[in-house]
Amino acid sequence: MNHPSYCHIVVLISGSGSNLQALIDASTTANFKISAVISNNQEAYGLQRAEKNNIPVQVIDHRSFETREDFDLILRKTIDEINPNLIVLAGFMRILGSNFVNHFSGRILNIHPSLLPKYPGINTHQRALDGGEQEHGVTVHFVTEALDGGPIIAQMKVPVLEEDTPDILAARVLNREHIIYPKTVAWFGAGRLRMEGTRAILDGEPLPPTGVQIKYEPIP
Ligand code: GAR
Repeated sequence: MNHPSYCHIVVLISGSGSNLQALIDASTTANFKISAVISNNQEAYGLQRAEKNNIPVQVIDHRSFETREDFDLILRKTIDEINPNLIVLAGFMRILGSNFVNHFSGRILNIHPSLLPKYPGINTHQRALDGGEQEHGVTVHFVTEALDGGPIIAQMKVPVLEEDTPDILAARVLNREHIIYPKTVAWFGAGRLRMEGTRAILDGEPLPPTGVQIKYEPIP
């Protein structure tokens, strides 16, 4: 039986799981607990991070299914059995279909490495450099049927420096991801955050289209 006073989350990953690690670290003192980690990739290093912290893991390999819908259905059934309050996509590199997304409507968060609505999809850091951006960053948003297009909850910006490569820029953004994701999950856990239609609502107020802008404060 899930402890009722915590927000129980399931984290979906595909790879390294550094955002998962940030959530694991935060969960020791925050209002949320990670009930399970699910990966579509057996090799995802994030699985080891979860196991090290005694978090149950499951692998559902998308390659074992004939269609996207078949994969989504098993994923949905697996999550329904766990019965979490929130599903947190943390570097989960599969597109989820409308049946899945609508089933869990308002209960799925995603983190995306760009200042949405700029640069949805992949290769965001390269594209931001190619686009001559002076600012880049990370967005947390509710997941809807629109790819990387659901209501935005929060963003953190980073400067783009002249000497940046995609990897250097990615590392700067990832560092902010590890701050912004636990923070927004905790908002949801505290009952402060919800999705209503096309808007994210925080503390009863609809958020602006690009969400809350969170400032980076380096530790002195
Ligand atoms: C993160 O940068 C995350 O924003 C990105 O994948 C990386 C996963 O890193 N997600 C997407 O691009 C989703 N469209 P992690 O496995 O170390 O958390």
